[in-house]
Amino acid sequence: MTPRGWTRANLRHVLAMLRYGANPAATVYDSIGPDFFLALAPGWLNLGLWEGDGGDPSEAPVAVRRLVERIAAALPGGGDVLDVGNGLAAQDLVIAATVRPRSLTAVNITWSQLEAGRDRLREAGARGVCADACDLPFADVSFDGVISVEAAFHFPSRERFFREAFRVLRPGGVLAMSDLPTVRLPQGPREALAAVAMLRGWGLRPAAAASPGTIVATAAGAGFVDIRSELVGDRVVAPALRFVRDRLDAGRDGGPRTLGLAARAMLSQADVLWERGLLDYLLLEARKPERKS
Ligand SMILES: C[S@@+](CC[C@H](N)C(=O)[O-])C[C@H]1O[C@@H](n2cnc3c(N)ncnc32)[C@H](O)[C@@H]1O
Repeated sequence: MTPRGWTRANLRHVLAMLRYGANPAATVYDSIGPDFFLALAPGWLNLGLWEGDGGDPSEAPVAVRRLVERIAAALPGGGDVLDVGNGLAAQDLVIAATVRPRSLTAVNITWSQLEAGRDRLREAGARGVCADACDLPFADVSFDGVISVEAAFHFPSRERFFREAFRVLRPGGVLAMSDLPTVRLPQGPREALAAVAMLRGWGLRPAAAASPGTIVATAAGAGFVDIRSELVGDRVVAPALRFVRDRLDAGRDGGPRTLGLAARAMLSQADVLWERGLLDYLLLEARKPERKS
């Protein structure tokens, strides 16, 4: 028996918060399922790149696409592109339309998401591969572009992901991504509680908490050059939190009451991290150097 509106995967998620297994991200995203009641738009799991403060609900489906268009715009057109952590594959349609790749490969550690996104993958002309971002099952120098939208904080190690992205890219290839950096560590019990709630709720390892500078340095350490980074939390985190709060307040989330209460509790922890300046949103572009002649 599960509480009304809860799935078995939800309960597994709650139990896993006490002790996550080898693949915490898949436990979390199996639990969230293909129809996450707090998603900004159906099929999307990113926070969006917003115009405005999040108070206009019609902006949400535009913002989630705009974020992917913005990140994908750095990729070379017409090449072989790898999308790492592709969610429910809505973004693969946008990547395909933005860069018209010769081939598009989408990697996800959550098998149920690849299944749920199968039609979108087909429509985008993409192939889905269930694999870990830190152990990519592809030959060296086989892609012109690697994109990863809002997923790297889940990876077992950013350092290994950057090394893998560098390895599979051809010389001159581009990495374009977004990430959730931790600007400073928590101070005092209120901030510590918020940080622990976020880490446990989203199945994150303590190493997920890395500063923007550390993330950029890790990319450089893997060999990337021409690294450009920008913090855009004002246009991403702030409006997304406002949008979700408004939706919960208006009872428009459509989810079961107990899940709504759990979501509200998590939202207030996220508010603490954002409002006190612990959290931001990072856009990063980098290039693998050309071969020396
Ligand atoms: C916050 S969601 C973002 C999904 C999608 N990029 C979007 O923006 O809608 C994080 C995604 O990363 C995937 N993921 C987490 N850890 C991963 C790993 N180690 N390797 C590959 N994918 C991973 C999850 O399954 C999920 O699809």
